Amino acid sequence: MQKVTSVTEMRTLAEELRSKDQIIGLVPTMGALHEGHLSLIRQAAEQADTVVVSIFVNPTQFGPSEDFSKYPRDLEADLKRCEEAGADIVFAPTVEEIYPKGYSTFVTEEFVGKPLEGVSRPTHFRGVTTVVAILFNIVRPDLAVFGQKDAQQVAVIRKMVQDLQFTVDIVTAPTLRETEGLALSSRNRYLSNNQRLESLAISEALRYAKGMVEKGELRSDRLIAEATHILGEKRRVRIIYISVVDRTTMEAMREVVPGQSLLAIAAWVDEVRLIDNVLL
Ligand code: PAJ
Repeated sequence: MQKVTSVTEMRTLAEELRSKDQIIGLVPTMGALHEGHLSLIRQAAEQADTVVVSIFVNPTQFGPSEDFSKYPRDLEADLKRCEEAGADIVFAPTVEEIYPKGYSTFVTEEFVGKPLEGVSRPTHFRGVTTVVAILFNIVRPDLAVFGQKDAQQVAVIRKMVQDLQFTVDIVTAPTLRETEGLALSSRNRYLSNNQRLESLAISEALRYAKGMVEKGELRSDRLIAEATHILGEKRRVRIIYISVVDRTTMEAMREVVPGQSLLAIAAWVDEVRLIDNVLL
């Protein structure tokens, strides 16, 4: 496995691979890698000849009061995990490499990213689409893998790819969970034991709603009412949003269309912000 920090070197390497007709798979991450990230790398390795994992804590997707400076960073551990999961190249640029002095261009998707996360984090997806567009232009991958855990992020990226005519295939990988149900997240390490216990209500609420749909309940308001009740029993949990939405457009749906709808939840567990969702 090779570690690359310079944009020029990454671009040259990718060009060489392309000239040898190698299928390139990209897995964009912000590091602090856990099994969820590794499952994306394994998925990319199944579909591509060469897997590039980017590790870059992207400042433009953090709001002014968010955790950019305290976001967990552990490059040495991440490199080991990447290698074990089957990565061929780790691209870990500095902030100055990606955003040199005077950088002033941003990519904004203006519909799919508006509701849900877009309400409380109005500049978040602008940072995500900008950095992902930059990474796509440097690596020019044939496919890129994203997690269903961040359902709105994948939907926004798919829309950007469609609108801006990128030729990359977007692959969505399922959410990896701990045995009790908590979706793996780099931010889980901020949780104390008590907070972790209460955070289980999020996946429990999603599971319960999914069960209701399986028994024939399609009314979103009833699913939301039950899920809200489950979350409401936990003292530390405060709902930011809970919504049944179309998985492609993120528009609210009054009725579930099985296979097309998603129940999405964001909640504070004390001061830790968690998101999760389930396909209905
Ligand atoms: P990050 O939070 O590091 O996540 C990197 C990728 O891992 C994303 O596609 C995310 O959806 C996926 N992921 C996270 N938790 C997962 C889980 N439990 N199961 C499966 N996949 C999971 O998302 C980002 O970074 C950034 O916004 C990025 C796309 C890299 C742009 O900066």
